[in-house]
Amino acid sequence: MTISKGPSRVVVIGTGYVGSSYAFSLINQNITDELVLIDLNKEKTEGDVMDLNHGVPFGAPTKVWAGTYEDCKEADIVVITAGANQQPGETRLDLIEKNAAIFKSIVDSVMGASFDGLFLIATNPVDVLSYAVWKYSGLPMERVIGSGTILDTARFRFMLSEYFELDVRNVHGYIMGEHGDTALPVWSQTRIGSEHIDRYMTKYKPEGTQQDLDNIFVNVRDAAYHIIERKGATHYAIAMGLARLTKTILRNEHSILTVSTLLQGEYGLHDLYIGVPAVVSRKGIERVVEIDLSETEEKQLRHSAEVLKQAMKPVFN
Ligand code: 2OP
Repeated sequence: MTISKGPSRVVVIGTGYVGSSYAFSLINQNITDELVLIDLNKEKTEGDVMDLNHGVPFGAPTKVWAGTYEDCKEADIVVITAGANQQPGETRLDLIEKNAAIFKSIVDSVMGASFDGLFLIATNPVDVLSYAVWKYSGLPMERVIGSGTILDTARFRFMLSEYFELDVRNVHGYIMGEHGDTALPVWSQTRIGSEHIDRYMTKYKPEGTQQDLDNIFVNVRDAAYHIIERKGATHYAIAMGLARLTKTILRNEHSILTVSTLLQGEYGLHDLYIGVPAVVSRKGIERVVEIDLSETEEKQLRHSAEVLKQAMKPVFN
């Protein structure tokens, strides 16, 4: 793998809402030296590049241009955000066939340019499409990472921080499983500061109930539907999650993030991409972290995996 010693380069394929918000986050947070945008809509991409470049004097000295697949050769990370997104009422899994076909041609073009870095995938259904990229590219699994439940986990932490009136950085917990309707909250491992959530609630929010927590999870799970109903798409938070992942990789941070990765026996699951906590570094996935789950959580994770396996069948059988 060539993680370049020269300027770091990120290529974004797909400059719709998510891709362009991600580009904006990268520039604002000084994450990469070079940023290449690729999209079928060349005019829109040129417009985005002009607009982003005019912001560079206020942000980080990033070199931004509208590129071609050839630019992937020198890229450290190729991020795919291209594809159809959910319309009101559609689930993420409804997008599978449309987006798998688009992905085959994108991955072939990237690999055809002798790409030798890491893929980050955000398009839905993200778990299935990350598996597709791993298969289509032939790269080792640690170099194909899906955004997984990184966003669901952020939503979970945010909503709990509001409920407990606390800094979100003091809320620790994970959403695991499919990035979709079968995602699950890992209550058994959720902590406020270093205190287990139940204990914290008994001590400092005695009026709180389990029903409140259950409602919070339902709002986390359905957040995308709520946003899509109102504005047609979600993009800022996922873009910031992708920026966080990019930073973690380029700066070799070894952060534990809930990403979609290939399971090979962890959690008793095999041969699928699904959201789990994993250590992410410059190498990509260093390791999956197998946290202890309650019996209910284990059952929910198995169910989520079964739903994903069923969804994958038309594409991979
Ligand atoms: C989200 O969760 C739609 O997957 C996207 O915001």
